[in-house]
Amino acid sequence: MNQDELKQAAARAALEEIKGLPPGSVIGVGTGSTVNHFIDMLAASGLRIAGAASSSEASARRLAAHGIGLASLDDVEELPVYVDGADEIDHAFNMIKGGGAALTREKIVAAAARRFVCICDESKYVATLGRFPLPVEVIPMARVQVARHIARLTGGEPRWRESVVTDNNNHILDVHGLAIENPVELEAALNQIAGIVTNGLFARRGADVLLLATSNGVRRSVRA
Ligand code: 5RP
Repeated sequence: MNQDELKQAAARAALEEIKGLPPGSVIGVGTGSTVNHFIDMLAASGLRIAGAASSSEASARRLAAHGIGLASLDDVEELPVYVDGADEIDHAFNMIKGGGAALTREKIVAAAARRFVCICDESKYVATLGRFPLPVEVIPMARVQVARHIARLTGGEPRWRESVVTDNNNHILDVHGLAIENPVELEAALNQIAGIVTNGLFARRGADVLLLATSNGVRRSVRA
């Protein structure tokens, strides 16, 4: 199986995962190529959901194109589930996300969800986070100052993702060269830097369920 087929397998497993939800549920939907498969399969499945809270304009457009209603977080107390991919996930279900620059809205929708279901292929499963450059969303006027601060704090090398403006009109720094031994601590430390909107570490709120697509099938595990 190639990587895209593995992503499809993970997406299919997520559909099974949400089949038990009461009809009329509003679910959270993430961003990226794995989630795109999930959205397409959800639309084709005939599963009756009341709508989806989307973590990006791109996913919102895809959902709407399929006729799936968009829900605002203002109107729901809690989402039963949030389905999203990851750029890396470790054995404790801490993640790096934001490869698609949607990290801030992803964190917001994930925070509203009772259960975070992470769908990815086995290439994303790592012992230590950091080989994938850590995305950080910054207020544009603070970009250079924040980059200097992150370099001092982490020893990593922040690089501006110049081609990208986020859905919130901000910039992305990708921090290269990290080996993240304590994701919870680093997530909190980065949150203290003025000018950072969000960092792509999802450790304080990691995944609850991992659907990991491997060449031997999709492995389902639940956070200990
Ligand atoms: C977007 C994300 C995605 O979940 C992550 O980049 C994985 O994407 P893909 O499913 O395309 O591999 O965090 O901001």
